[in-house]
Amino acid sequence: MNKKTIKDIDLKGKKVFVRCDFNVPMDENQNITDNARIVAALPTIKYLLEQNCKIILASHLGRPKGEFKPEYSLAPVAKELSKLLDKNVIMAKDVIGEDAMQKAKDLKEGEILLIENVRFHKEETENDPEFSKKLASMAEIFVNDAFGTAHRAHSSTTGIAQYIPAVSGFLIEKELKFLGNAVNNPERPFVAILGGAKVSDKIGVIDNLLEKVDTLIIGGGMAYTFFKAQGYEVGNSICELDKLDLANHLIEKAKEKGVKLLLPVDTKIAKEAKEDTESKTVKCTEIPADWEGLDIGEETIKLFTEEIKNAKTIVWNGPLGLFEIKEFATGTNAMAKALAEIDAITIIGGGDSAAAVKKAGLEDKMTHISTGGGASLEFLEGKNLPGIEALMDK
Ligand code: 3PG
Repeated sequence: MNKKTIKDIDLKGKKVFVRCDFNVPMDENQNITDNARIVAALPTIKYLLEQNCKIILASHLGRPKGEFKPEYSLAPVAKELSKLLDKNVIMAKDVIGEDAMQKAKDLKEGEILLIENVRFHKEETENDPEFSKKLASMAEIFVNDAFGTAHRAHSSTTGIAQYIPAVSGFLIEKELKFLGNAVNNPERPFVAILGGAKVSDKIGVIDNLLEKVDTLIIGGGMAYTFFKAQGYEVGNSICELDKLDLANHLIEKAKEKGVKLLLPVDTKIAKEAKEDTESKTVKCTEIPADWEGLDIGEETIKLFTEEIKNAKTIVWNGPLGLFEIKEFATGTNAMAKALAEIDAITIIGGGDSAAAVKKAGLEDKMTHISTGGGASLEFLEGKNLPGIEALMDK
């Protein structure tokens, strides 16, 4: 990485503003249901504690659209952090109001303050210079460790970096190391597995990865657009009619680049996407009207599993079926299991594929599970992430 990290500057006793991505899922009672993003922020926080820093943590949670809404408060995160660190985390009542400003001012070495959800101010997502300046005024150094939000050019991810020295934390460094090595310097054969509902969400990723991979495996809802593009009927399966030319173009591009493109051969279909519904498996080229494809079939699982056996690097983004419903999670679970068993570098893009791996209890078996959903996708598209661009060069 050509950006400075917390190891590259003297932080002893300094007041640091650390942008984390504590955008964690919560149930209706504000109980955190997956603390992975909080756990992922701990190495940086612990290092800053060792350096006797005065630590101000900031994050967004959800999309409160510039207004204070109690259900978007970061207070449950402060509690969880206190538990994980076995240390009091002071919670501010606001972001740049009197309470946060006073608490930031009074902060002593080795103390941690969490300010409220930065998106309680609309200026945050507008990357408003005055708001950025105010955030910067709280500290001497800016540490960005919010990989999951690195694709957003907001005040607390980029704007603030214009006013105080800006470096990355360990999480961003780690994410870039794993994702960057996988994509730019992979051990071959390099296989990418892309799933998810829509081709339109993955165009950039497919396009970029076709320049890099040896094999591209496509599953999930978007596979049906590829079948339709080749002239097959797909029944009621999810299909983007305005992306048929694009799908054909991607098939052509794979041929030109000598990339092996694997599509499913069979699919589990049902009349309705719901639990306990009648389902059967058919060839992808023989989906009857009124039925929709909701998962890959057994033949496809065999085909994909066989293909990845020889891989040395695998990047997986997007589920291969409607994995939220048990009957249609077989393909996604089988892929998670296959990845867990092989001797290769396995990188899981964040979001749904990370959730699927966790649901299968296989997270410890993967080389790296990204904490970024949209951010990892944009990285795989080859885009520059503004939250990283804004940091000081080495
Ligand atoms: C995410 O969950 O992908 C990040 O926290 C970014 O959230 P956002 O899409 O609301 O910007």
